[in-house]
Amino acid sequence: MTETTTRAAGVRAGEPNAHGYRTYSLGEFTFSRDEYFAHVTWPTGSHVMSIDGFLRATQRDVAWQFFYGVVNFDDVVGTINHYGNVDLFAGTFNDAYRRAEVDHLENFPHEEIFATFVAMLDDWTNAGFDPFASPEETGTPWGDKAGSNTAAVSRKRVTAQRMVGVPGDEPLRSDATHPINRMFADVDQSEPEIHAEPGFEDEVAAFNLFAYLSRSDVTWNPSVVSVCKDSLYCPTTEEYILPIVHGNDRVEWFVQLSDQIEWEVADKESGSRRARVVMRPGDVAAMPADIRHQGYAPKRSMLLVWENGSPELPQMIAEGRAPTYPVEM
Ligand code: PHB
Ligand code: FE
Repeated sequence: MTETTTRAAGVRAGEPNAHGYRTYSLGEFTFSRDEYFAHVTWPTGSHVMSIDGFLRATQRDVAWQFFYGVVNFDDVVGTINHYGNVDLFAGTFNDAYRRAEVDHLENFPHEEIFATFVAMLDDWTNAGFDPFASPEETGTPWGDKAGSNTAAVSRKRVTAQRMVGVPGDEPLRSDATHPINRMFADVDQSEPEIHAEPGFEDEVAAFNLFAYLSRSDVTWNPSVVSVCKDSLYCPTTEEYILPIVHGNDRVEWFVQLSDQIEWEVADKESGSRRARVVMRPGDVAAMPADIRHQGYAPKRSMLLVWENGSPELPQMIAEGRAPTYPVEM
């Protein structure tokens, strides 16, 4: 049965359990953790996820403020962003759960689900584990509660107003704060020379995007490095597996800047497989608005995600006023 309710803000957390972790309630959902797993329950069912994947997914959902469209933690649990309020669901995008009528969906004000996810992520992340880092570059999340890693889990993604490196906007990265990643040791670090006409010195800017990305300390976390009206350039460095399965609510363009990413592309609603896309340097792909996708990067790689941030797009696509694909061939 699908239920929808709306509730006021406030984090509902229980006392620490035998493993030291609190249990969180959102509407009729509960979230609890033990040494290895996150457990999710709702009135018609329950679900279990490995805690590493659960924390990595929650970290993205929090840092991206629920992102565009659907953030599937796996093929059962996830969130839908309605930009102001958010659905939390179990089985909504899973054919078998829907047929068995054990799916469940509740709507929350953004602030309520956000505050709960922030509190849960902080409580459940032990010292030494960074959900944003690649598995090779961080410790493990297992075991009873042992310390915390608030600095890591409260990171926000870089969001430029116009472009990183422009005076007063997001700064470029330096050795002091962002050393070059082990897998990008060969990336040229020289910055472009700018020769502006007199009087235009404040209006011309350029930076080395490859150098910028080579210094990223996180994986699967697109930064908004340039903004031109609704056109958002969101490059990112990827290693291992995208911790969420993204259900698009608009077309996204991918430009593979270096190395290789393999994408599993499935139907947004049912989860049935639609395509496998292997992207090598220079490859460009448009991901349609009616799919879900998850990327696999065998080695740290650079990806440019190009988003149309227009708030009107989801409604236009839902009503058939805009297509789910970007170009008519
Ligand atoms: C996506 O869902 O399009 C996406 C999300 C995070 C990334 C890359 C792509 O790092
Ligand atoms: Fe996506």
